[in-house]
Amino acid sequence: MASKVDTGISDAQYLVPSADIRLTVDELWTARQRQMHSLHYAVSYRASFKPELPDFFIRRYTSPGDVVLDPFLGRGTTVLQANLLGRAGWGNDVNPLSVLITHAKTHPVSIDKIQSRLDGMNLGANVDMSNYATFCPFYHEDTYRELLNLRSSVGAQATDVDRFIEMVAISRLHGHSKGFFSTYSFPQISVSPQAQERINRSRRNTPDYRAVKPRILAKARKILQDGQIDAIRKASASNLLTCDDVRNMDSIPSGVAKLIVTSPPFLDKADYLQDNWLELWFAGIDSMSFSQDMIRTPNLETWKTFMNRAMLEMNRTLVSNGTCVIEVGDVSSRGETVNLDEVIVALALELDRSHPEFALVPEEILINQQEFTKLANCFGVDNNAKGTNTNRMVVLRKR
Ligand SMILES: C[S@@+](CC[C@H](N)C(=O)[O-])C[C@H]1O[C@@H](n2cnc3c(N)ncnc32)[C@H](O)[C@@H]1O
Repeated sequence: MASKVDTGISDAQYLVPSADIRLTVDELWTARQRQMHSLHYAVSYRASFKPELPDFFIRRYTSPGDVVLDPFLGRGTTVLQANLLGRAGWGNDVNPLSVLITHAKTHPVSIDKIQSRLDGMNLGANVDMSNYATFCPFYHEDTYRELLNLRSSVGAQATDVDRFIEMVAISRLHGHSKGFFSTYSFPQISVSPQAQERINRSRRNTPDYRAVKPRILAKARKILQDGQIDAIRKASASNLLTCDDVRNMDSIPSGVAKLIVTSPPFLDKADYLQDNWLELWFAGIDSMSFSQDMIRTPNLETWKTFMNRAMLEMNRTLVSNGTCVIEVGDVSSRGETVNLDEVIVALALELDRSHPEFALVPEEILINQQEFTKLANCFGVDNNAKGTNTNRMVVLRKR
């Protein structure tokens, strides 16, 4: 392990009994952006971690062929990195959009197949435009027509080519540059039509026509540039992606995962439904079907109750001697900063006392301390403070 850096955080400041828990504060991986496989950067997603994070732990704790699980899948960073390293990637997220994105990223197809599939589509065909009023702050009507046609073409089949095109289209729905289908909008979250109207007014914008096919092809080329299509597909043949509530992951058998690398929602930092409404619309996912299970905990007590149940499930799905890495940040609760890593450790110790089957023992807290980077900040993770970008990871070992 490399030497500690001075961060002003001492072991003594930790609220948890620290005698048996190592504390490592270091620059564990590079602070440079977009160094990993290009597919990782296919889609923006709120509160996602950098691929360097799962890469670090997958290399540290697993061998090729092992199962690596992320029960809060998000945009599938852990699962894709597991596949890139020849491991099986298992993932779960209550939001089916996560599964859709992750399946496509871990089943990449060649640019030739994408090109010929797009060539065969007539995106200018007449289509019911009666809902255009909702979308007109974002899209020119010809762009909207193309999107409707694309949506029904790729929604009708479940081939990997169509699913890849669908994922790339989802990544292009809104953003700053001319590479997006929308007029100037926020890249990380889909704002409401009313908010988009305000943006348009302040920038004196009206949506101009943005042809859909060339934008999909350009983005697909970019995210496929690092290759390894066959290797990723070979590893992902052993993947399992599910949409359970983490508190009851019935679709995932017990004792399978060698490693869990995951990042739960931090209190009510992100609204994954509202912030993804355009993506959910394009994917044809009804948010009402899962919104009641989507956790948004208003305070620390509710978060602890939620994490209690999530950690029981993580315990169940791990093999004995497997490792569980939970990445968290700092949150503000009743005016005070709470280090959620300390909360996770305290929860694990309490579960160990109260549940005979619980066997996760806190082993180490790692704090990745890096120089502030602009992109990390705009992913919306609320753990950047005073010029640093910090990840806090609790490592628990199953007895
Ligand atoms: C912090 S994000 C994970 C980001 C992921 N590490 C990545 O890099 O993309 C948390 C995820 O938890 C999911 N989630 C929220 N409530 C859940 C629940 N009850 N069960 C399973 N997943 C849930 C959200 O949909 C969101 O994708």
